[in-house]
Amino acid sequence: MLEGKTVVLGVSGGIAAYKAPEIVRALRREGARVRVVLTRAAREFVTPLALQTVSGEPVATDLFDLTQESEIGHIDLADTADVVLIAPATANAIAKAAVGMADDLLTTVLLATRAPVVVAPAMNVHMYENALVRENLARLVKHGWTVVEPDEGALACGYEGPGRLPDADVLVEAVGSAVAPDDLEGEAVLVTAGPTRESLDPVRFLSNRSSGKMGFAVARAAARRGARVVLVAGPCGLPDPRGIETVRVETAEEMAVAVRRRSRSATVVVAAAAVADYRPAKRETQKSAKKKGAMRLALEPTPDVVASAVVRKPGRLVVGFAAETTDVEERAKAKLERKALDLIVANDVSAEGAGFDVDTNVVTLVSRAGSEALPLLSKDRVADAILDRIAALRVRPSKKRVARTKKRRAR
Ligand code: C5P
Repeated sequence: MLEGKTVVLGVSGGIAAYKAPEIVRALRREGARVRVVLTRAAREFVTPLALQTVSGEPVATDLFDLTQESEIGHIDLADTADVVLIAPATANAIAKAAVGMADDLLTTVLLATRAPVVVAPAMNVHMYENALVRENLARLVKHGWTVVEPDEGALACGYEGPGRLPDADVLVEAVGSAVAPDDLEGEAVLVTAGPTRESLDPVRFLSNRSSGKMGFAVARAAARRGARVVLVAGPCGLPDPRGIETVRVETAEEMAVAVRRRSRSATVVVAAAAVADYRPAKRETQKSAKKKGAMRLALEPTPDVVASAVVRKPGRLVVGFAAETTDVEERAKAKLERKALDLIVANDVSAEGAGFDVDTNVVTLVSRAGSEALPLLSKDRVADAILDRIAALRVRPSKKRVARTKKRRAR
């Protein structure tokens, strides 16, 4: 998500500063280069040595340190940043930033940078709810900064309430949004994800190996790129992604109902769910007892969600997935036509590193314009590649081009 990006992480002096090394590691896991700036107070909670070790970069602490200024340099920090993350941001750091002060290295970098800034406040609940802090945060938002709301819960000071620094992956997601293109702004993307579960009786069900990872990755990436996202998810172990309306369903029938209702306002539908094709013809209300000998199970087909429940409308893009084990591209092309899709993401689920329950995938993007085989990539990168294609398909022809086409047609 952050491959090739430089994140300047500003750590100010609250107790949550002890989580800074974890944030550095999470950012680096996504491919970012992380340059850390520690305020004087932050050094009371976490050492420059710890952050230097996890970031693999010299840590900047002083504006007026001759060695640091020549080796790191506040303007160089400001210029090389693709994004600045302040985590944790104390009430003091927020206040200084909100009035444009530059009395230490962090605030100076904040004024000098042209990169987007993400602020993660963490403090005592009464401080966080103080009208002055609220006003300062509102002022930062007005100037285009992103504020990641703190989590609620038990605080280090003994109080309960909002004020906890969110988990590192939430901060990484916010940083990812700040550097992602806004090419899906104005789009309403509906994503289906995960398996469905078709009950035999109150204890047993039929399902499949889908983990939901691919669909969740598409939902998160679309949100990062500015789309309003609704995620319809079958039973899987993944938590609701922050900021994404998530509708939990169990069966194919429930997924079809949710999709029928919500696809009306969607401009793009991405059907990544591995919907069960069959369900037990009869659902027992009591647990069926084990009997001697073989057992026959009568199955009936489920609704095809993408083919039948997505309300079609000109301009609405519909993207499907095709999990195959043989003749991948050929079968995908047939599915593209049969299900009236604009794009299909085909993958050989038997290939190494592809398919269910892994973090990587190997896919071929198949549309009527042709096919594009992608190498082994993380599911996050595959999600972005799919959305690149969608964004390209969404680019409306310019007025000039429309006029030219009309002229050509008239001739
Ligand atoms: O036919 P097949 O299951 O291979 O098609 C896969 C595509 O169709 C996926 O996009 C999947 O989400 C969708 N699908 C569906 N409802 C079904 C079966 C598949 O929406 N009952």
